[in-house]
Amino acid sequence: MILTVTLNVALDRTVAVPRIALGNRHRAIDARVTAGGKGVNVARALKSLGEPVIAAGLAAGPTGVRIRELLGDEQVLYDFTEVAGDSRTNLSIVDPASGEQTEINERGPQVTAEDLERFTDRLVYLAGGADFCVIAGSLPPGAEADAYAELISRLREVGVPVLLDTAGDPMRAGMRAQPAVVAPNVAEAEEAVGYEFTEPEDLFSALATLVEMGAEEAIITTESGCVALAGGPHSRTRIEATIEPLPTVASIGSGDAFLAGYVKSRRAGLSPQGCLAYGVACGAESTQHLGAGTLDANEVGRLVDLIAVSSTPAPAGVV
Ligand SMILES: Nc1ncnc2c1ncn2[C@@H]1O[C@H](COP(=O)(O)OP(=O)(O)OP(=O)(O)O)[C@@H](O)[C@H]1O
Ligand SMILES: [Mg+2]
Repeated sequence: MILTVTLNVALDRTVAVPRIALGNRHRAIDARVTAGGKGVNVARALKSLGEPVIAAGLAAGPTGVRIRELLGDEQVLYDFTEVAGDSRTNLSIVDPASGEQTEINERGPQVTAEDLERFTDRLVYLAGGADFCVIAGSLPPGAEADAYAELISRLREVGVPVLLDTAGDPMRAGMRAQPAVVAPNVAEAEEAVGYEFTEPEDLFSALATLVEMGAEEAIITTESGCVALAGGPHSRTRIEATIEPLPTVASIGSGDAFLAGYVKSRRAGLSPQGCLAYGVACGAESTQHLGAGTLDANEVGRLVDLIAVSSTPAPAGVV
């Protein structure tokens, strides 16, 4: 079983508004609500891929109840620790004319150290049945930057490898706890290593830096696929998996679908190259659907054959 962690679950409301302009009054032509937050989206994608998964997290109040109902409707298993207040609602405005998507995310309820302790106990209990854990997204207000680092350490103690996908200080602190994999996108990776990528080689230098910062393996996702540094300290391999970018219906959440595909493949024992190719296929396929973490497993199978994968041993001296 795979666990996902979402410390700031959300109700995602998506509205379609043609030719939206700031300062004007608009009429939405379509609206939908789904349960959201990065780990929840990863769980949804894993469910679509037929993987046993439990979405763990913190939820609050009436919005938390609604999020649980929606997950129940989708038959995604969840285990949320209740906290005070009300879970956040995130608004996503899609302009069907241009395909552009604008996101407005609320901060979410304030959490306490005691909330995080209760959650950690629960997570460690669930980890008894887990092969892998995906920790993704931002921290809720009130959580210290090392909150993910603490979860990673506790999961390491019980032998559950963690994939971490977050940004900023929680990412830097999290890496010090030695997660099995980190998988930022380009902007998040630039922030973590402290410089902008201008040359293709910069991506590979950044992967080495992410590993030096504590991650066992590192992946950076790009719009055309991903680059990764895989393998142990004495046998590191640089891998690149690419796909011709597709015209998208909605690209938000493609990183979450990537994570689902990657983790499913890892659990199945595929090679690092195979895991990355399947992850990229899932990310790409998910861009053909509106909801975050929504994908069609049959189409993923078709796209995998279109992914080009190359790998070379990392040059001597790379971490
Ligand atoms: N237009 C596209 N065509 C094909 N694949 C895409 C496209 N956009 C994204 N992908 C795939 O999805 C994966 C994740 O992409 P990206 O790095 O943009 O995610 P992200 O920024 O983390 O997204 P989010 O945080 O919204 O989930 C990549 O592996 C990429 O190949
Ligand atoms: Mg992402």
